[in-house]
Amino acid sequence: MARWNIMARLLKGKLALVTGASGDIGSDIALLFAQEGAKVVATYAKSEDRAKELQKKGKSFGLDIWTKQLDVTQEEKIDLFFKDLDKDQFFPDIIVNTAGHSDRRIWFSKPEELTNDDWVRVYNVDVVGSFRCSVEAAKRMMERRGGCIINFSSAAGVTGHTEGLPYTAAKAALIALTKSLAFIYGPKVRVNAIAPGNIDAGSIKWYNAEQVETMKLEASLRRLGTRREVSTVALFLASDLSSYITGQTILVDGGI
Ligand SMILES: NC(=O)c1ccc[n+]([C@@H]2O[C@H](COP(=O)([O-])OP(=O)(O)OC[C@H]3O[C@@H](n4cnc5c(N)ncnc54)[C@H](OP(=O)(O)O)[C@@H]3O)[C@@H](O)[C@H]2O)c1
Repeated sequence: MARWNIMARLLKGKLALVTGASGDIGSDIALLFAQEGAKVVATYAKSEDRAKELQKKGKSFGLDIWTKQLDVTQEEKIDLFFKDLDKDQFFPDIIVNTAGHSDRRIWFSKPEELTNDDWVRVYNVDVVGSFRCSVEAAKRMMERRGGCIINFSSAAGVTGHTEGLPYTAAKAALIALTKSLAFIYGPKVRVNAIAPGNIDAGSIKWYNAEQVETMKLEASLRRLGTRREVSTVALFLASDLSSYITGQTILVDGGI
């Protein structure tokens, strides 16, 4: 029976790629993984300033975080991005696909107001982008020492939601994709998803105080989740602590 030394750093010697690391949750995952001993490549699409902030924070703690630009909707750029990583001998053991698209139109339009473009915009980032990055990472993991993939779904993708239909459907698709990839790349690569509920991050800024109070009451724990409460689940899934878990979606929603 394996015995865990809880004082040991869980990702010591691992190479971790975190997409969407200029975002609220992705940046916390990059930081936590680096604190746990991983060398981290953290990507941003448009928010270079936020990525630089993350790098600076990492540096102040003496952590190994590199930042790189990557738009996950651009197929050829993804190919070049991974080839560049190869040149740097950075073959990811872990990829966390936190890159996700959300905007007010998608969340606050009535169903009949949603255009095909609204559907495609979110699907291209959340599903196709996560797919393409996962495949490139998995190729390298299969050739080397295996690894793990973590996708970012949403509690809305599990339960359905009255708002944000393209987002909700894309997040549900990610759950199916996670299961399929787990079958395809097992046993060398584990593939899991995280489905956060109402977290104090990202799109929460679009809601007023009263709406936020209502969101808190949706959860059995009667509060929003913190970024760190999501990141620690990513850490669990990325580490050997979850070595017999694959194809699963872990809800981090305070019991909605
Ligand atoms: N916050 C929540 O309550 C919640 C709940 C359920 C699920 N989630 C999911 O959790 C993940 C992280 O959420 P968050 O709250 O941290 O969101 P966030 O702060 O809005 O960050 C989104 C990230 O995705 C990146 N991104 C967007 N379009 C991209 C593209 N085309 N290519 C590459 N990267 C792109 C953004 O990069 P730039 O800013 O650099 O463009 C940013 O880093 C998302 O997948 C989200 O859907 C969040």
